[in-house]
Formats: sequence, C-alpha cells, structure tokens
Amino acid sequence: MLKIMINQIEPGMKLAKDVVLDDGRILLLKGFTIKPRYVTKFQTYNVPFIYVEEERVDPDTISEEVLYEDTFTTIKDIMESVRADEEIDVEELKDTVQDLVHYILNDDMIFMTLTGIRDIDNYTFLHSVDVCIYTIITAKALELDINEIHELALAAILHDIGKCKVPLSILNKPGTLTDQEFEIMKDHSRRGANITRNMEGISEKVSRIILQHHEKWDGSGYPEGTKGHSIEMGARIISIADVFDALTSDRVYRKRFMPHDAAEFLMRQSESQFDPKLLDCFIESIAVYPQDSIVLLNTGEVARVLPAKGSASIRPKVSIITKKNGPPILTPYEVDLQENQSKYVVDIISL
Ligand SMILES: [Fe+2]
Repeated sequence: MLKIMINQIEPGMKLAKDVVLDDGRILLLKGFTIKPRYVTKFQTYNVPFIYVEEERVDPDTISEEVLYEDTFTTIKDIMESVRADEEIDVEELKDTVQDLVHYILNDDMIFMTLTGIRDIDNYTFLHSVDVCIYTIITAKALELDINEIHELALAAILHDIGKCKVPLSILNKPGTLTDQEFEIMKDHSRRGANITRNMEGISEKVSRIILQHHEKWDGSGYPEGTKGHSIEMGARIISIADVFDALTSDRVYRKRFMPHDAAEFLMRQSESQFDPKLLDCFIESIAVYPQDSIVLLNTGEVARVLPAKGSASIRPKVSIITKKNGPPILTPYEVDLQENQSKYVVDIISL
C-alpha cells in the first residue's frame, strides 16, 4: 500500500482505503479504480492524500469512462463553436455518438453508472451526454433499427444546441425568468432546429426532433403545441430523458429530486406530458439508482445499491455499510427498500 499526495494522484490507481471527507461522507470506497474525472474531484474536496495499491490499472482500459469524457468534450466543443459562430465538424460528433451506441448496445448498465455527474459549470454539456445515454438505452429496449438509433442519439446529444444562441445572462440567470426572458429561452428548440438544418450531414428528421423536444403528449408544450403521435417518436423519448435528468440535478432555482421521486413524478405526468407507452419503456429500461451508488437513508444508514433495473430499481435492494457519523458496520447487511417502505433514500453520497 502506498500513500499518495493530492498532486500525485493519477487515473488507473486503485484505492487501498476508503476516502472519507471531514464531515464523514464517503467520497470513494476501497477497491475503486481512479477515473480521469476523479483526479479533479479530489482537489474539489480538498483530500490531502489517499492510500492506493501498488499495482495499477492501465487507464486506457477504462474504456467506458474514456468514451464518456470524449462525448462530453466533443459536444462541449461543438456548442462553444456554435456560440462563437465558428464552423463546426459534425463528423467527429457522429463518430463519437456511434461509438456510444455501440457500447450501450453491448452493455447499458455500465453507462447508467456514469450518468449523473453534477458539475454546475458544465451542466448543459453533461446533461446532453446523459440525455443521449438514456435515449440510446430506451431505443435499444424498443428494438429500433440501428440506423434509427444512431439518428436518435444524434438528436439527443444536440437537443439543446439552440441554447447556444440564448444570451448567457438569461441562460445562467439565478432568479426566476421574466415572461419575456422565458419566451427567449423557449425559443431554443426552434433555434436548435434552424442551426442543425444548416449543418451538413444532419437529416431533416433530427432537426424536427430537436424542434419538438418540448412538445407534450396532450398538446400543451411548445413551440407548436403538437400532440400525441404527431410528435416525432424521438422527441417523445428525448422529452422523458430530458425531464428525468433535469429533475435529478441541483439547479440554481431548486434542489434536486432524489431519482425515485423523479421517476414517480414522471409517472404522474404519464398521458399529460409523456407518451405513456414510451414512459413505461423508459422506466423499465434504466436503473433509477445505478448499482454501486452510495446512498444515505432516512435512518442515517449509508448503503451501497445492489444491481437492479426498471421499476425494481425505484426502491432497490441495498447493502448497509455504515451509519452516518457512526462506526463502520463490520458485516454489511441487505435491506430491500421495496419491502421496507419506512426506509428510503434521502441523499446520494457518491456515484
Ligand atoms: Fe431543451
């Protein structure tokens, strides 16, 4: 076992001891392989040193993580170029999205564990990647044709591209938007469709999906008030993924929902806001709480989420590992949150 100071932490190192913050929260558990994005996380949380194993894992073999980072960087570059009115190359984005589709078709659960990185500075880009992952997972469950999945994934990653043309003073405004500002904000779907219509190599269908991603099943959405099956199926899927991911993020104007509350919120909007069949498919395809997330229960117990998918993952089985501010539990024990409804998740400690 080696003691590594903060400035020497590198991806591929394997933790030999849990990393516990001063307030008792567990940042990462023993056995975790350090991924590129965690290097900055240690700095953010001011972790002075960690203990790692002597052997390392080649960071290039952490392929899903690398692909997630690549997708994030690619969409970030594109969105920043659109904001600056620079030329953009969609071919690179298409390649990255195709890789993402390929990986998710092989194993979607690994990617579920990567969603939910909450970084305020990069919210729009991370949100776009997560919406893309959820959309591919749903499209896979619907057994869509591979070309259709590629097209949908491209629409999903680009769905908020029109926000690049919304003034930053409105986009990042901490308070409530005035009616006029809200109208400008709402225009991002139309702007997004116009931007992608001028991009070579993007189909008209992708632009239509972007145009419609805020339409609602009952016709109460915008910009055109289109309803039901007249809304492109891709837009109906992306709107579900968009709302689920947005609700589970902390925003300047409200605290995030816990994922089970977000899933239940969505289900209450079935038939008004969302296509009920697609919503069922979405809920049954994702892991509401991805496996190995570390969560805090209302009882003060800290638990690791056990593998589950679909509605079973709304109240998953968990393994209790410690009590907040208490001594570690030497023999972790399982609790089924479905059978013990008095226990529920109140916070996510670490993804
Ligand atoms: Fe949007």
